[in-house]
Amino acid sequence: MNDNQLILTLFGATGDLAARKLYPAIYRLYKNNNISDKFAVIGTARREWTDDYFRETVYNSIVDEITDDEDAQEFVSHFYYQSHDVNDGDHYNKLKELSDSLDEQYDIGGNRIYYISLNPQLFPVITHHLTEQKVLTDNGYNRLIIEKPFGFDEESAIELQKQLTASFDENQIYRIDHYLGKELLSTLDEFRYNNVWSHLWSKDYIDNIQISLAEDMGIGERGAYYDNSGVTKDMIQNHMMQIISIIGMDNPQNKSSDGFRQEKINVIKSLKTFDSVEDLTQNVIRAQYIPNAQEGIVGYKEEADIPADSQTETFFAAKFELDMPRWEGVPFFVRSGKRLEGKYTTIHIIFKKENEDVENNYLRIELAPDMQIQFFFNQEKPGHQGGAESVPMTFEYPEVVQSEIPHDYERLINGCIHNQLDHFVHWYEAQYAWQFMDHIHNYWEQLDGQDMKYYEALSSGPAEADTLTENHGTKWYDCIDC
Ligand code: BG6
Repeated sequence: MNDNQLILTLFGATGDLAARKLYPAIYRLYKNNNISDKFAVIGTARREWTDDYFRETVYNSIVDEITDDEDAQEFVSHFYYQSHDVNDGDHYNKLKELSDSLDEQYDIGGNRIYYISLNPQLFPVITHHLTEQKVLTDNGYNRLIIEKPFGFDEESAIELQKQLTASFDENQIYRIDHYLGKELLSTLDEFRYNNVWSHLWSKDYIDNIQISLAEDMGIGERGAYYDNSGVTKDMIQNHMMQIISIIGMDNPQNKSSDGFRQEKINVIKSLKTFDSVEDLTQNVIRAQYIPNAQEGIVGYKEEADIPADSQTETFFAAKFELDMPRWEGVPFFVRSGKRLEGKYTTIHIIFKKENEDVENNYLRIELAPDMQIQFFFNQEKPGHQGGAESVPMTFEYPEVVQSEIPHDYERLINGCIHNQLDHFVHWYEAQYAWQFMDHIHNYWEQLDGQDMKYYEALSSGPAEADTLTENHGTKWYDCIDC
């Protein structure tokens, strides 16, 4: 039996993520023959939808991807809907019946993916019932995909892990971090081990590393969620940690998913904690955006569902260090925020200068807005001008290739089908990331908001963040007009 014949059961089928990302991703996999014809999708949610209405919804969500209407109609005919209360054991019995009959109808042979796109509090409720009501199959694989957040601190994450592993082994759990679905990030390890870069990838040649995850958008309608998370739990504990771990990891001797993830775990575990409140405030800046009247943009505290005295941070910048021989003395400057001056996701690797008269050579790995890698190096100015200037060498995917590049969720669902666990977050990555972020939050609790800084919406962030890089004799490498 092939891995790509399966039943995918989706909890949260009427949600926004499903329509925006998941159905188009599954359709692209189907169109490119990455999913066999022997497949079915069972969508579940509380609403009373019919199969026909569900299929129409799926069709509408893939409409931009359709090149052959007959094929698209065939695709949506594999979708089935079940109105489902996740707390009701009886509903899982019905789910089992439906799964078994679809398995027979499409000659699937037992493979199952359970994708939970619902409030994380419901993860253990669902996994418990899947085991209890024997929905899991004995012939084929049973894999669980879950979305972030995995807990809200280390303690809650440990509890969640305990509950989930009562039904699924660690290697059956596929924790999504959609950044791992991004083309440039998922191929970054290959780039790093290229014989040219691998020799330069250490404290001997690198002066500092900078990672910026900047967004110009605000919090939209997610106020209630965001105010409990802040940028630290929304972006740093997960996406930022993933990027740090891939940039910082040693070359795995063991080339399996396990070997790869073990090296990433080592990086997150080696993040140096701060020794005191003073140490923290010198190296970690948190801030909140205030109105920009000229642009008609409200401040964070005026957003819907945000308390007027909220102390939630919408911006985070820090100087991190890794306790690894490779990175001794090399700062990792990281920052992320909402309502900044633009949307860009960049990694800058700043090499040491050969002498004081020239600029640093540096690599810019740009995940957004464009997808490109540039090496900026010092080149003698042309003609008789004298002196050097920084010029780029650029790698960019040609447009025709760009349209072929798998979308984030397409790569991840395909990764789950083919058991590529290296595209997913291991439990220890999540746990150590929480451990590290918890120690920052503990200091923040002691500070009770005294260290909170403010920045105007659509600006480059608080001035204090610049001090972090200036103290190291450098500056933030921007990508505002790149
Ligand atoms: C999500 C966060 O995980 O990532 C959002 O919850 C954020 O707040 C988004 O906007 C950013 O993702 P991307 O792919 O647009 O950089």
